[in-house]
Amino acid sequence: MASAGRGEWSGKAGFILAAAGSAIGLGNIWRFPYTAGENGGGAFVLVYLAFVLLIGVPVVLSELSIGRFSKLNPVGAFKKLAPGTNWKWLGGLGVLTGFGILAFYSVVAGWTLSYLWGAITGQVGGVTTAAESEAAFVSLIGGSFMPLVLTAIFMALTIFVVRGGVSEGIERATKILMPTLLVVLLIMAIRSMTLEGGMAGVSYLFSPDFSKLNVGVILAALGQALFSLSLGMGAMITYGSYFPDRENLPQAGIIVAIFDTGIAFLAGLIIFPALFSVGVEPNAGPGLVFIVLPSIFSQLPAGGLFAIAFYALLSIAALTSTISLLEVVVAYFVDEKQWNRKKAALWIGVACFVLAIPSALSQGAVDIFSTSFGLGISFLDLQSIVWGNYSLSIGALGLCIFVGWKWGIPAALASLESSGHALQGHALWSFLVKYVCPVAVFAILVYIMITQQYF
Ligand code: PHE
Repeated sequence: MASAGRGEWSGKAGFILAAAGSAIGLGNIWRFPYTAGENGGGAFVLVYLAFVLLIGVPVVLSELSIGRFSKLNPVGAFKKLAPGTNWKWLGGLGVLTGFGILAFYSVVAGWTLSYLWGAITGQVGGVTTAAESEAAFVSLIGGSFMPLVLTAIFMALTIFVVRGGVSEGIERATKILMPTLLVVLLIMAIRSMTLEGGMAGVSYLFSPDFSKLNVGVILAALGQALFSLSLGMGAMITYGSYFPDRENLPQAGIIVAIFDTGIAFLAGLIIFPALFSVGVEPNAGPGLVFIVLPSIFSQLPAGGLFAIAFYALLSIAALTSTISLLEVVVAYFVDEKQWNRKKAALWIGVACFVLAIPSALSQGAVDIFSTSFGLGISFLDLQSIVWGNYSLSIGALGLCIFVGWKWGIPAALASLESSGHALQGHALWSFLVKYVCPVAVFAILVYIMITQQYF
């Protein structure tokens, strides 16, 4: 039973769409391709896939079990399940991480809005060479006024939806748009793979070169698996807390993981063939997608319309993710500090915008932000690594220890199966949560500390 006034999804489909909306976003279409490209392609992709199956899926189920049982935000959930202990700090780390991720995510989401505008006014579809499109991208992100305005617009949109609360705001936004996104991506992938030289991209993505593997690549793959599935910071605890009691939760969680991973692969099948066909380097970094994509639209019939559809859908996919990020923080202030939802959404959003400023100005506008005060990577990249890789990994590690060893598998399983739908293979799930995930994540973090390859 949902506590009065918190709200719940209208049904299983509502949850799947909303959770898939959280999971599917810039992580799949922007972060996955450039991270794969920076980390050598096939071998990274294979490790990423292994992490999705061995760590991602078990952690999805763990977070959902906590959310369904506690019906609370991450901090409140740990307080309820382990009263008087320090576990609440793990929830606190999650809330902070949500805030941190939102603060760079909204910058990239802002760039997407600009491309949507470019598509509507016909500029994007008309770009033909990679050099032209790179020049346009660099001049957009290197400015100071536009990146800030775009970030502000995106944050305002996020605040607007989160103010409305769970089912009205979030569900309504996702219902029609997710399936449409899938269709548009499929068509683009087919076009991209049939471009001249495109197949080289497919083989780059799928033929692993294991000499490229090192601990940095492995952490990047772990971070990407967690980031893409919205795990390790309590987004799925929060979304699971709105899940109706009568529905099959384990199945819903697994469907979301499959959708999310499928979309990331589809994005890879769009970007890499096109990249080889137009001659852009795979390790071009965070600009990769923005530089490569415009070249595909000019090769499609009605490419201009496609560009509009694509950037509109990508903006919306990003919005359904930023909503879930802000929602975690807002749920904390509403549940724990008794803030009013509207006030919480507004002020947290504004504070997050302030934190986004250094990232927005880190692509050429302000030198100290471009190098993160001398660290040698842009502030935006730094945020993505700190929150997206480290913080989510630590969060997932803590979560597995909590579910496996503190709260206990029987309790978590009872919560997952409380509607009467069994979790198939629950012995495997228990083994992964108790042993495989904690040991693997811990080993990776320790190895990084020993070798000091932090970025
Ligand atoms: N999963 C989202 C994406 O891929 C990003 C996200 C991470 C959202 C963590 C919520 C929590 O775009």
